[in-house]
Amino acid sequence: MPLATLRQVLDEAAKGGYGVGAFNVNNMEQLQGIVTAAQEVNAPVIVQASRGAINYAGPMYLRNLILAAAESAPEIPIVLHLDHGDTPDTCKMAIDLGFTSVMMDGSLLADGKTPSDYEYNVRVTREVVDAAHVKGVSVEGELGTLGGIEDGHGSGEVHLTDPDQAGDFVAQTGVDALAVAIGTSHGAYKFTEKPTGDVLAMHLIEEIHQKLPTTHMVMHGSSSVPAELVDRINAAGGQLAEAFGVPVEEIQQGIRHGVRKVNVDTDGRLAITAALRESIAANPSEFDPRAFFKPAREAMKQVVAERLTQFGAAGHAGDYTVISLDEMAARYKSDGSLGA
Ligand code: G3H
Ligand code: 13P
Ligand code: ZN
Repeated sequence: MPLATLRQVLDEAAKGGYGVGAFNVNNMEQLQGIVTAAQEVNAPVIVQASRGAINYAGPMYLRNLILAAAESAPEIPIVLHLDHGDTPDTCKMAIDLGFTSVMMDGSLLADGKTPSDYEYNVRVTREVVDAAHVKGVSVEGELGTLGGIEDGHGSGEVHLTDPDQAGDFVAQTGVDALAVAIGTSHGAYKFTEKPTGDVLAMHLIEEIHQKLPTTHMVMHGSSSVPAELVDRINAAGGQLAEAFGVPVEEIQQGIRHGVRKVNVDTDGRLAITAALRESIAANPSEFDPRAFFKPAREAMKQVVAERLTQFGAAGHAGDYTVISLDEMAARYKSDGSLGA
């Protein structure tokens, strides 16, 4: 099966009323954990690489690792997505590399920190849509900004998405998916206590869905930061502060109102780190790194399988046949409902 496009996978998720997890990947063990989880629960999956991941692994390693994953799991629709593209050039580089989906994060300027103005966001996002759709590649845009700067993304200021502006943004840019800002942030330290529906501004998701019922929404910063993982890391020598993430029930509520892509990176990082710390501490005479990477890969698999199941994607991998980028490009050309 070729790599799937985000647009097709999210269109199918909308038909089935579920959400698809988008998990960040930087190396082989993470990727194997993600893809074997998708196989185990028979779910479509989005594998996403940030610019940091591309720098860490190298573009060719990442591209070919993911092609290897797709070859090893031909029964699973797998999207290769660029997470938080900072400029149209970065997105075009990813398209040339073979990514089937890119995010143009025009909510921030190219420094990835300063909030942009609306006209800038529309302009750069539209430029990427024009370059992507002729090749069948999908585009995610973002309106509003997340909080938190610990991982280098974001301004630290939260600008929640304005539902009225969302309609104009989607119409002007032709994006396939819209990332909305509802009060989440990246990383482990999102909230100082378990967030309520108000802190999370879930009502914005409902309003946007009412105004734009066919637009696929994306929730960034959606790790749940399980206390069990934080506790295990600390029990094995880590020093993480108490942390609260996004409760899975809130994500499920979002999915009932049009959220189709759910971004999860931190939970995978925590699961891997817990397993690495525990296995290194428990096996002081071991020096074969595979002894540590195996439980780490298994921990990644477990958290991904759990999230795919909680988001309702389990069992849906075989619902459809993946269509090629060429076919997608032809559809953009001929089908007005797919956006320009
Ligand atoms: O959007 C943030 C993701 O967690 C990626 O983080 O830039 O450290 O790879 P990264
Ligand atoms: P978390 O840090 O909550 O996992 O968010 C990841 C994300 O939004 C990647 O774009
Ligand atoms: Zn994000």
